[in-house]
Amino acid sequence: MTDIPTLEQTLLGAVRAAENEAALEALRISALGKKGSVSELLKSLGAMTPEERKEKGPLINGLRDRIAAAIAARREALQEAALAERLAAERVDVSLPVQEGPETRGRIHPISQVIDELTAIFADMGFSVAEGPDIETDFYNFTALNFPVGHPAREMHDTFFFPPDHRGERKLLRTHTSPVQIRTMLGQKPPIRVIIPGRTYRCDSDQTHTPMFHQVEGLVIDRSSNIGHLKWILEEFCKAFFEVDQVKMRFRPSFFPFTEPSAEVDIQCSRKGGEIRFGEGDDWLEILGCGMVHPNVLRNCGLDPDEYQGFAWGMGIDRIAMLKYGMPDLRPFFEADVRWLAHYGFRPLDLPTLAGGLSA
Ligand code: DAH
Repeated sequence: MTDIPTLEQTLLGAVRAAENEAALEALRISALGKKGSVSELLKSLGAMTPEERKEKGPLINGLRDRIAAAIAARREALQEAALAERLAAERVDVSLPVQEGPETRGRIHPISQVIDELTAIFADMGFSVAEGPDIETDFYNFTALNFPVGHPAREMHDTFFFPPDHRGERKLLRTHTSPVQIRTMLGQKPPIRVIIPGRTYRCDSDQTHTPMFHQVEGLVIDRSSNIGHLKWILEEFCKAFFEVDQVKMRFRPSFFPFTEPSAEVDIQCSRKGGEIRFGEGDDWLEILGCGMVHPNVLRNCGLDPDEYQGFAWGMGIDRIAMLKYGMPDLRPFFEADVRWLAHYGFRPLDLPTLAGGLSA
């Protein structure tokens, strides 16, 4: 028969040595579980004579109670120690400044911010966003937009061409967002009301030009849209974008192959003290080109110019971002310098909305 005092010493030693609740539980099973050492002793009572049982019964039951009590006490001690450790580790010193996580340190690039602002403004006027590829064919970038082959207006675009493919066709990097006008008119029936923000490319680089830049195009086609609507939309856009109550605009006659008549639009500004302000002053600043969509362009898209008409405009996103947020040089926009982004970038959770404020 097992020596009860020795077993008790061994078990109590093991209880004290159990370093965590899992080890303690394993020990409990090995002693008090179905096949545990103490349980086996309890079972042996059944085979004893009444006298023997009278003598051993209290000893074995006493052993079981003391081991169970020791395990319970050890479990409580372990739980308390674990809690104390967690409390120490999770202590918060509320007098310290809040630590910024990556989501608050990250910044939205001003171009993305301005695209979000444009989208919010035009979505409110019922426009949706259309997109097209950066690599275009000559047809979409020029021919369909009424730039005949050999037309001098093509030369003004400083186009990046790809080498000719096996059919002799030279793809190009789109020089403006206007080819998406064609894709949109070929892809959906009027009424059409879209804005088209995107990347554009020209072989040009100085303080206000980079080989890759951004434009936003607007296109409205239906049966009756006219220049009056165009002026109203552009005026509402300028007021909303520059966050001023009123802005004077000047339409100067111009030329684009895909619009007739065409105009360039200046907005009123003041440049006192080297700072540009909109909605005041007696200076002018050119911000976009626009016009009524040329009948040839409508025809190229399978639309009958006697039935449909509309207008379009295009402007440089980088340029209006520079004007609105006071950045003097365009080149750092694309240098991926986090110090520049920390200064000019926007907080990721402050999404521009008309109700909440565009640049708040
Ligand atoms: N695509 C022109 C450019 O890059 C800008 C432009 C002017 C777009 C007039 C238009 C427009 O849609 O009507 O210079």
